[in-house]
Amino acid sequence: MDYKKYIVEKLNVEGMSKEELYDLIALPPNTEMGDYALPCFKLAKLLRKSPVMIAEDLKNSIMSDTTITSDKVLAEVSAVNGYLNFKINKDGFVRATLDKILNEKEKFGASNAGEGKTICIDYSSINIAKPFHIGHLSTTVLGGALYRIFNYLGYKAVGINHLGDYGTQFGKLISAYKRWGDKETIEKGGIRALNELYVKFHQEAEVHPEYDDEARAYFKKIEQGDEECLALFHWFKELTLKDVQKIYDMLDIRFDSYAGESFYSDKMQPIVDELKEKGLLIESRGAQVVDLEEYGMSPCIILKSDGSSLYATRDMAAATYRKNTYDFDKCLYVVAYQQNLHFKQFFKVLELMGKDWAKDLVHVAYGMVSLEEGTMSTRKGNVVFLEDVINKCIEKAYKIIDEKNPDLENKRDVAQKVGVGAVIFGALYNNKIKDIVFSYDKVLNFDGETSVYVQYTCARANSVLQKGGVVTAYEIPELTAEEIELVKALATFPETVSAAAEKYEPSYVARFAVDVAQKFNKFYFNCKILAAEDEKTKNFRLALTNATLQALKNAFALLGIGVPDKM
Ligand code: ARG
Repeated sequence: MDYKKYIVEKLNVEGMSKEELYDLIALPPNTEMGDYALPCFKLAKLLRKSPVMIAEDLKNSIMSDTTITSDKVLAEVSAVNGYLNFKINKDGFVRATLDKILNEKEKFGASNAGEGKTICIDYSSINIAKPFHIGHLSTTVLGGALYRIFNYLGYKAVGINHLGDYGTQFGKLISAYKRWGDKETIEKGGIRALNELYVKFHQEAEVHPEYDDEARAYFKKIEQGDEECLALFHWFKELTLKDVQKIYDMLDIRFDSYAGESFYSDKMQPIVDELKEKGLLIESRGAQVVDLEEYGMSPCIILKSDGSSLYATRDMAAATYRKNTYDFDKCLYVVAYQQNLHFKQFFKVLELMGKDWAKDLVHVAYGMVSLEEGTMSTRKGNVVFLEDVINKCIEKAYKIIDEKNPDLENKRDVAQKVGVGAVIFGALYNNKIKDIVFSYDKVLNFDGETSVYVQYTCARANSVLQKGGVVTAYEIPELTAEEIELVKALATFPETVSAAAEKYEPSYVARFAVDVAQKFNKFYFNCKILAAEDEKTKNFRLALTNATLQALKNAFALLGIGVPDKM
C-alpha cells in the first residue's frame, strides 16, 4: 500500500495538485511525531495563512471525512507546530507490507509502469583489441543494473554494446600482426596479446614513420572490403568478444546488440547530406563542421579534411538508426563524464536538424574509478585489467571465508559470489557521478556498507529460516520498534526501484539493501526469533525474516549480485 498516496487522496488543498502534494509529504526524522508529515510552511504563501493555522484547518477537514475511521489506515492525525502529522495503523501497515512481499516473491518491487515503452541502453561499449580495464567497470555494471531495473519495471530494455571497432588502429594492428604476430600466440593471448602488438607498433613506428602510412593503407583496405584485411579484422573482433564474454558472464551482463561503430560505415552519408541540405555544415580549415558557438560549445566536427568520419558522425548515425529500429522512448548512454562535451555536441546537432527525439537522448555520466595506491597489480603506468581485479577480489574473499568458516561447503562458489559482488557493489554504492577509489579491503569489509555485509545478513536470515521453518501465515503480535523500523524500510522497495530508474541511479537499490540489512541485524540482536516469548511472536518474526531475505535477494538480483545460502 502506498500510504503517501492514500494521504494525498484524502487531502484537499486549493490551488495545489495531488502530485505536488505527494512530493511535499515527508518522513519525519522522529517517528514519535508520526510516520508521515506535511510541512505546512510550504503552503503558507499559497494559502496566505500561517503554517499553524493551515495544519489545524487541514486536520479538521480530514477528520470530518468518515472514511478515515472506517478505512483503518490511519491511526492518528495531528497538527503540531505547523506540521500535519499522520500516524498509520501499524498492524495494518505491517500486514500489508509482509503480505505483499510474501505473495509477490521475486516480483516484489516490479511493476508494469513501463509497459509499451522501449529504452535503449548503450553501455560497456568496449574497444576491440584494447584492454578491458578498470575504467570500464562503472559503465558495465551501471548499465547492467539499469538494464535489469528497466526490465523489472515493464520497459523493454535494449542493451547495446557500441563496439569501438572503427579507425586507423585496426590498420596498425594488421600491420603489426603481419610483421611480428603469429596465429597461435594471438589465439592463446587474446586481448592482451593484441594489445602487446599494438603497443609494439607504436614504439616501432616512432623510428619507422613509414609504418604509419602502411597502417593507413591497411585501414583503407578494410573499408574497401579487402578480403584478407576484413578477415583479420573480424578475427580480432571475435577474439576480443570471446575474452570479454568471460567477464560479462561473471558480472551477469547481457546485450541485445553488438552493433559497433563500423556498423555505421554506410549509414553516415545520409546524415552528412541532410546536414548540408539544412545548411548546417560549414567549412573550417578544410573540415566540415557544425558551428555551435551560439550554444557555448566548440564546433562539432563531422568530416575531416580527408573526408573521413568522426566519432560524433558515427554516433549521429547510430542514434538515428536506433530511433528507426527500436522507436525508443529514451536512449541512454552510460559513458564517463569525460565525454560530456561529445554528447552535448551531437545531441545539439541532432536537435538543430529538427529531430524532435533528440530530447530523448540522455548521457548518463559517471565518475572515475581508480585503484587505491599500493594495490596496483601491474607496473605503474600500465593499465589494470578488470579481469585481474575481479580475480584478485575472489581470491581475497576466499581467504577471508576460509579463515572465518573453514568447514563451509562450496567455499569456491561462495568466494566467487562474494568477490564478484564486492567489485560490482564497490562501483554501484555511491552516487554515480562521484569518483571512486577502489580498495579491496574496503569492499570486502564484513562490517562495512558492503555487499558482503548484506550477503552475510542473508545467510544469517537463511539459517534462521532453516531452523525455524519458512513461515508465510502469521498473526501480528505486539510490535517492537525494531520490527516496525525494519518493515518500514522493506516497504520502500517499490518506490526505491522506480526512483533508481527515474534518476538512473542504481545506488538507491544498493543503499536500500544496506539499510535493510542493518535494520534486520538490529532486529536480530534485540528481538529473539527462534526463542521468542510465544508461538505467535516467533511465527511473526519468522515471516518477517522470510520477507527480509526475499527483498534483499530481489535488490541484489537487480544489481547482478548472487546471494549464497550459507557463509
Ligand atoms: N568506446 C567508447 C570509449 O571507450 C565508448 C562508446 C560509448 N558509446 C557511444 N555511443 N559513444 O570511449
